[in-house]
Amino acid sequence: MATQRVLDFLASRRPAGPCLIVDLDVVAENFRAFEKALPQSKIYYAVKANPAPEILRLLARMGSSFDTASVAEIEMALDAGATAERISFGNTIKKERDIARAYELGIRLFAVDCVEEVEKIARAAPGAQVFCRVLTDGEGAEWPLSRKFGCVPTMAVDVLRHAASLGLDAYGVSFHVGSQQTDLSAWDRALGDAKKVFSTLAGEGIVLRMVNMGGGFPTRYLRDVPAAEVYGQAIFEALSKHFGNVIPETIIEPGRGMVGNAGVIKSEVVLISRKADNDNVRWVYLDIGKFGGLAETMDEAIRYPILTERDGDEKGACVLAGPTCDSADVMYEKSPYPLPLSLTIGDEVLIEGTGAYTTTYSAVAFNGFEPLRSYVI
Ligand SMILES: Cc1ncc(COP(=O)(O)O)c(C=O)c1O
Repeated sequence: MATQRVLDFLASRRPAGPCLIVDLDVVAENFRAFEKALPQSKIYYAVKANPAPEILRLLARMGSSFDTASVAEIEMALDAGATAERISFGNTIKKERDIARAYELGIRLFAVDCVEEVEKIARAAPGAQVFCRVLTDGEGAEWPLSRKFGCVPTMAVDVLRHAASLGLDAYGVSFHVGSQQTDLSAWDRALGDAKKVFSTLAGEGIVLRMVNMGGGFPTRYLRDVPAAEVYGQAIFEALSKHFGNVIPETIIEPGRGMVGNAGVIKSEVVLISRKADNDNVRWVYLDIGKFGGLAETMDEAIRYPILTERDGDEKGACVLAGPTCDSADVMYEKSPYPLPLSLTIGDEVLIEGTGAYTTTYSAVAFNGFEPLRSYVI
């Protein structure tokens, strides 16, 4: 996780303040692992996970396509060398003028999850391809994306029928099984739902051709996760089970699984204290917290591995908090984090697995703290 290249960079450059270092070699390895695990699927990297230009350029060179959430992300992918036909506007919530701008930029693939969005696309992006997102329950995911996105499969049928009636290309169905998904059967359930939509519409003469299987592929935090090929195998089996030998085109949109383990945050211990003399839980305040980029510690959902130079020493429970004057800026309290008893103010710590969903979550100047700096090496 903290690769030798990252450790060498930190030792030689000694960057001040909290910062993220991303090792591009790890991103390249992850891309190749996804290609190998799901050779029939097109890879659309989820730009939101980490839009650093160096990452986008590397992936564009390697042949990746891109899942984008906004016009700004579309422009970043284009600037990185992707052509418009390799970009999907995958957010189900879009302003009509942003759809029009994307269309002007050449984008022809859009996500929807309701007839209202279909109507916007029919007006602003005539003839475009649309795929309809179906709801998933997010069970088994550490960062579920359920409820806000997607509709029930029976409604997806209405949405895609409506799209076809407005001259759009009703292209397929998408889902997202929830981020950091470690239950392999989640894809099986979602593919079962996708197949229902395919079958119902086929009965009406509307032939869908694509399933967008979203992201959800996990990265390693404190626990080992199955390798990409294990996911590939489970997904291939589920596709065969539901679609027989008429397997549609498929897309995957890995974000966390592409860049999570490529990044390490260097941080510093600002304060260690207790709330009472007889308190046996120490409070450890770092120079980074929820507002500095570690927003996914919300509800203690994502638990990052933390390395210190004293890891050989005896450990004790700590509440881990960030540096701001906001009482929400506490990362781990319900499940205290074991850290060395010898940990001292001024020590540096490395927070691993932080390549995804960190820089872009960091506040611009909350409490006067700079946004999280990043170095891509
Ligand atoms: C539409 C879409 N695709 C892909 C992703 C990436 O998911 P993950 O980081 O779990 O791979 C997300 C994450 O929010 C998403 O919203």
